[in-house]
Amino acid sequence: MSGDGLTDPRDVVAAKRDGRELRTDELRAFVLGYARREIPDYVAAAFLMAAYLQGLSERETADLTRAMIDSGETLALEGTGRRTVDKHSTGGVSDGVTLVFAPLAASMGLAVAKLSGRGLGHTGGTLDKLEAIPGLRTDLTPEEMRRQVEAVGCAVAAQTANLVPADGALYALRDATATVASIPLIAASVMSKKLAVQTDLILLDVKAGSGAFMKTPQAARDLAAACVALARDFARPCRVAVTDMSQPLGTAIGNALDVAEAIRVLRGGERGPLRELSVLFAAEARRLLQGDGGAAARRAAEHALDTGAAAESFAGMVEAQGGDPRVVESPADVLPTAPVRREVRARASGYLGSVDAEALGRAAGALGAGRRRKEDPVDPSVGVEFFPRVGNRVDRAGVMAIVHARSEGEAEAAEASIHDAIRISEDPVEPPPLVFAWMGSEETAVPA
Ligand code: URA
Repeated sequence: MSGDGLTDPRDVVAAKRDGRELRTDELRAFVLGYARREIPDYVAAAFLMAAYLQGLSERETADLTRAMIDSGETLALEGTGRRTVDKHSTGGVSDGVTLVFAPLAASMGLAVAKLSGRGLGHTGGTLDKLEAIPGLRTDLTPEEMRRQVEAVGCAVAAQTANLVPADGALYALRDATATVASIPLIAASVMSKKLAVQTDLILLDVKAGSGAFMKTPQAARDLAAACVALARDFARPCRVAVTDMSQPLGTAIGNALDVAEAIRVLRGGERGPLRELSVLFAAEARRLLQGDGGAAARRAAEHALDTGAAAESFAGMVEAQGGDPRVVESPADVLPTAPVRREVRARASGYLGSVDAEALGRAAGALGAGRRRKEDPVDPSVGVEFFPRVGNRVDRAGVMAIVHARSEGEAEAAEASIHDAIRISEDPVEPPPLVFAWMGSEETAVPA
């Protein structure tokens, strides 16, 4: 920032600390300066905390998003011969939808080019999950992504020095500084990645509940509205589902465990909410981009899972990104496993009344599935499998979870956290809905 005639970065921090709306030029220079590593982490961390506490106006959020996009290149996808779609979740626990959706949509004739994130706070990250597959690379260049989408229909990659590097840097810093759960910061982070890739449709899964950053459906609707407003500012079609995260979406909370679960869904062998939400998103993409009616679009998605077409697309994507495609046929031979496996048994009979999904995510993080500091590696093998869903009957001494750990001591601590995270009710409990609302546009970009 210094050297280009603009404000000292500390003045930007002070202005935001004191609640002033930042000018476009000063916010932009700050973000680009941080992306070029001219502004140190401690100054950027102070800025993030000021923005977290004071908020950002709609205009500042759009300026932040624009600056993050402009910190790198954008990716055009014309010439793939398919309609293109991107999908993103605002973050949850056992949220493997992207792992299923990308190859599923590709197997239905769409093209998916997706920039994903790493684990953030208590939530898991698609990149960490995919990297549990030995050899798989997520640091694709824009050109590699484009070629892969042409060849196999889908690519899931990280922000890199080329693509939205400012989000990559700020995302890691937010994770390490307790500044994640802010509507403008999440909206700018998510949408910068979506707007940097030129797809015909953006699908967002905005999560609400104990395992999400937005703890209530209303807060999630506000985040969804902020994302839709950004899409409108940038003239991009965006459809959003506000979905339940009051309990883990699937059963696997970890990295290799999540991949194994996604593969079971992709091979058509597993029913449940992870499959259901993946089918809903794939059907919505097909309805909006390929003009099918809702029921036909849903049938097409279910058919692609049940015939193995989606699993085949996943194998193609894994191989194209350098991973071992045998993971689809024999996940247990390819994915890393933890040395300790401990069953967790219910202490009472009744109905599962509630789950603190954030606490389960933190338990998996403490086992090594997440990071404490931004430079920490994750352990792909560890995590928690948690089986009952809210409203299900549980029986005393029945197995309700399995902990996968590096040591008995860590497994014991995770077991205690699991017991603390749940409430068993004597009375029947109504399960929550999976989808609270759909928002955003029904339009898509003009067909290529
Ligand atoms: N996903 C993102 O990409 N960014 C966030 O801030 C939260 C979820």
